[in-house]
Amino acid sequence: MKVLVINSSPHFDKGTTGGILAPFMEGMESAGVEVEILYASRLDVKPCLGCLKCWDTSPGKCIQDDDMQDLLPKIADADVLVLATPVYVDGMTAPMKAIIDRMVPLIHGTFEIRDDHCRHPIREGVKRGKLVLVSPCGFTEMDNFDPLVAHVKAICKNMSREYAGALLRPYGWYFPVLARRGLPVERVLDACRKAGAQLILDGRFSEDVLREVSADLVPRDEVVEQMRSHYGDR
Ligand SMILES: Cc1cc2nc3c(=O)[nH]c(=O)nc-3n(C[C@H](O)[C@H](O)[C@H](O)COP(=O)(O)O)c2cc1C
Repeated sequence: MKVLVINSSPHFDKGTTGGILAPFMEGMESAGVEVEILYASRLDVKPCLGCLKCWDTSPGKCIQDDDMQDLLPKIADADVLVLATPVYVDGMTAPMKAIIDRMVPLIHGTFEIRDDHCRHPIREGVKRGKLVLVSPCGFTEMDNFDPLVAHVKAICKNMSREYAGALLRPYGWYFPVLARRGLPVERVLDACRKAGAQLILDGRFSEDVLREVSADLVPRDEVVEQMRSHYGDR
């Protein structure tokens, strides 16, 4: 089984995204799979030109010669594709979106009806595996993830991938403070680890584990106060 993780945090392994991704990957590896991780901001992936030559004169192939040439076959061959992105203005980061847009060569230009919807057929050889979202956000409420989750679910339908679920962590940036104060951040990291093992061994996440990843560790007022004392009225 091939697992491909794309982390689009500009903070790579040191950010909040990397912080929840690491135990999740450990969990998957403990269940016996090899996991490859790539960092979107280290790749040269230019924005889609919208020429659609990949549907026409060079079917399945983008005319731009950049790192997407190597990345596209890896995405096509992934049994599990993990998109890890912090919430940026209610969506994914720009480098992640560039990669998603550049996945267009994996589908044909023509239309078909799938699940009672007009869609592009998937090219032969492109796996229809699972897709997982891993995302932290800065605010405290879970509905801050709604636009991103809706977008990722729509991508799954268009790319014929199974949406396997999401590890969502609100106010992840506050973890280091909570850890210093002895609050149970480890329980969230453990849940990420369990989620990784569950995905590989059971093919799905349990609702309890996903709830624990997003667990409310402190009252909202405390998080707000922390930000106020850091930024003041700057
Ligand atoms: C440009 C920018 C836009 C952001 N937009 C949102 C947002 O819309 N909602 C939110 O809850 N957090 C937002 N955040 C906060 C990040 O999602 C949050 O700090 C996250 O933990 C950062 O992950 P990282 O450490 O991996 O970079 C934004 C941060 C940046 C830098």
